Amino acid sequence: MSQKMSQKMFQNNFSRNMLTRRKFLYSLGALTAMGTVFLGKDELKRQQVLALDDPNAEYIKYPGDTSLKQRARNKNLIFGAAIRYDQLSKDKEYAQSVSKECGILVPEWGLKWSVYPYILRPTPETFDFTAADWMLYFARMYHMKFRGHTLVWHLSLPDWFENTVNSQNARTFLEQHIKTVVRRYKGRVHSWDVVNEAIEITDGHPDGLRKTPWLEFLGEDYIELAFRLAHEADPKAILVYNDYGLEYDIAEDEAKRNAVLKLLKRLKSRGAPIHALGIQSHLDAGGTNFNPKKFRDFLAEVADMGLDIMITELDVADTDLPKDIEIRDRIVAKTYSDYLKVALEQPAVTTVITWGLSDKYTWLNEFYPRSDGALLRPLLLDRNGQRKFAWNAIARAFDAAPSR
Ligand code: G3I
Repeated sequence: MSQKMSQKMFQNNFSRNMLTRRKFLYSLGALTAMGTVFLGKDELKRQQVLALDDPNAEYIKYPGDTSLKQRARNKNLIFGAAIRYDQLSKDKEYAQSVSKECGILVPEWGLKWSVYPYILRPTPETFDFTAADWMLYFARMYHMKFRGHTLVWHLSLPDWFENTVNSQNARTFLEQHIKTVVRRYKGRVHSWDVVNEAIEITDGHPDGLRKTPWLEFLGEDYIELAFRLAHEADPKAILVYNDYGLEYDIAEDEAKRNAVLKLLKRLKSRGAPIHALGIQSHLDAGGTNFNPKKFRDFLAEVADMGLDIMITELDVADTDLPKDIEIRDRIVAKTYSDYLKVALEQPAVTTVITWGLSDKYTWLNEFYPRSDGALLRPLLLDRNGQRKFAWNAIARAFDAAPSR
């Protein structure tokens, strides 16, 4: 599969996933706003929503200057973000915000096999650690933990993979990759997303496994093998299975939750060194039928297996919300608030990581743009680095969370 093909596949998969989420059940503010949109009006008057929104909503009130990393630490939680090397290394103000707010740093790209133009695996024999090394250096300079994303992901395979890797040599490639990368950062990585997005119900596998080259070449035990190899290479790192589409009360997510539980149980029963589930949490402010009970029960089932839970890629797409910025910011903040309230009730949840920190840099503008051309506001800081209602919502969620 070429880089272009895998990118296209990524976009298709992503759109399908997000589109099915729009089930027209919204929080109070969103319900009013979106209801009007679907009745045919393009835009709501700001006052209309403000009047209907809760004037006492917690996220409107600034909770004081204490950083998110400190608020999380107060509860023995970890807060951080996934950040791109090119952005962090060029934008000084952004780097300051990241160092101020984050207790853990995740390279959004640098540790994937290949994301043009930062390719960790330029050829079958070589590794280019420039981006990942720089990110680790930055993390250590600011006393942040460092997290690896990701060792096995069907969507990050380099161009050469298709004509080089086959069922005869796949094990050698997997082994060489995991050993080389994990050993290089041994003792300096808090946690690794060992396998990312290995479930896709619509692929028709009896256990819901996604049809990837790894499954084709190595069979379903490739997942266990990847965890064992990672554990051998760095016995102290927390090893995570990471996936999306686990958050909502829709049939698609329900099926995925069940398949993930089955996979986790199988790995645990075979004694595989898996320590946590990563729930990506790419939320949609325009269509969340988030059911606290369903989600709470799912978290409890994972925790009962003795696994930790990490919220690994949290953001809130405002693609389908009205254009008014204050309306969008309120609904996005409320979405964060409602979600984290439930997640943080579960003591097995150890970590909250957002996918980006500032609206200036979000993958969503490229992959899930608004039809009116306005830029998205899915993150915690605005494009000038100022804290938004979403920041307040997360700060308050940490303040209210039970201590670990
Ligand atoms: O920078 C190049 C640009 O020079 C080129 O012109 C353009 C067109 O091909 O591509 C640009 O790079 C793209 C990059 O995003 C920046 O926009 C890559 O092709 C594209 O593949 C890359 O997408 C990343 C994606 O993973 C695939 O690796 C996103 O930044 C990144 O946020 C996203 O992260 C994933 C997680 O790893 C897994 N979970 C979902 C999450 C969000 O999709």
